[in-house]
Amino acid sequence: MTINNDFKMEEPIIRCWSVYVPDEAGEEVTKTLKSKWLNTGKKEAEFRAKVRARFKAPYAAACMSGTAALKIALKALDVGPGDEVVSTPFTFIATNTSILEIGATPVFADIQYDTLNIDPKSVEEKITDKTKAIMCVHYAGNPVDMDELREVADRHGLPIIEDSAHAMACEYKGQPIGSFGDVATFSFQCVKIVTCGDGGVITTTDEALYKKIRKQSWYGIDREVKKTSILDPLPVPPDGLGFKSNMNDITATLASVAMDHLDRVLEHRKQIGERYRRELQGLTKVTLLNYQDHWTPNYQIFPIHVEDREEFAHYMWDRNIQVNVNNRRNDIYEMFGGLCDLPNLKRADEDVILIPLHSDLTDDDVTRIIENIKEYDNQ
Ligand SMILES: Cc1ncc(COP(=O)(O)O)c(C=O)c1O
Repeated sequence: MTINNDFKMEEPIIRCWSVYVPDEAGEEVTKTLKSKWLNTGKKEAEFRAKVRARFKAPYAAACMSGTAALKIALKALDVGPGDEVVSTPFTFIATNTSILEIGATPVFADIQYDTLNIDPKSVEEKITDKTKAIMCVHYAGNPVDMDELREVADRHGLPIIEDSAHAMACEYKGQPIGSFGDVATFSFQCVKIVTCGDGGVITTTDEALYKKIRKQSWYGIDREVKKTSILDPLPVPPDGLGFKSNMNDITATLASVAMDHLDRVLEHRKQIGERYRRELQGLTKVTLLNYQDHWTPNYQIFPIHVEDREEFAHYMWDRNIQVNVNNRRNDIYEMFGGLCDLPNLKRADEDVILIPLHSDLTDDDVTRIIENIKEYDNQ
């Protein structure tokens, strides 16, 4: 404990985020370094096998970030200049900058205020004959109602890209995200449930799409084709223009070690998330997200709706508890073409804030967070 100038005892700081690195990560990376095979190789294959098994995904490709995964998925689905992608505006900007980067235009649908996920009804209203795909985000690791969204997509013959950067190991109606659907992308960036610093995964149920995804992540070339000529630098000519975003074996080593810890880390988060849901329900100024029984959240983050968000933020920071606005509505950023008239988005953008949820939190920390939120609510 420290003492401030008013001679008041200060509580230690509770941070909003933390990074989880398993103890054996360094040793495993050293082994890879000593092996001298640093490029995409056995470790990357080992990591993908773990992802396929844990996420029950028929096909999984690895790349260097969640953002790269989105761009690769979009390109593999042949989305490009002149196309529109109906997307959520309540997300980290990467969801939508990826669409811009491949030359297409994100068209924003409204969200559901109670889940912060894209609203399938609004999606349908935004579909035009230029629409090439639908992009959703399982926000906060609380899955989108995929049956409802699928119905809309099927009516218009559109693929759905699930930006699952928040949704590692989440389940929808008992099925892991990534095990069904067209294509899902994951992030292993540093504050994700398990991490390799920066990394991404793309899962799909479609073998032909998987082959395109693999090529897209390495210059449009299938790395698994063996060279037929000793003098040719590439096994086959590139199939169009692809990215350079294959996951190397150093990163894959970290990612593979991290996967071994996923269930333990997830269980700890679940205990905290469920405690918040039990002990913070029924408050006056604070409203929780709507979590359905048949959606299994992973509590990647814990957003709440709060009356007088700024006052709440000061209240908590003054008590050394960090709370944060994670994302702003994306249409405030000029590159997305201007503000949209989306009423639920407007409300959420004014009152959503994250309270801490991560692997370093102790039971006492969680008790302190809950007590302070209740005190704020009681003022
Ligand atoms: C919803 C969402 N999509 C995409 C990304 C991009 O992932 P990455 O940082 O791995 O590129 C993030 C990153 O946090 C995210 O939150």
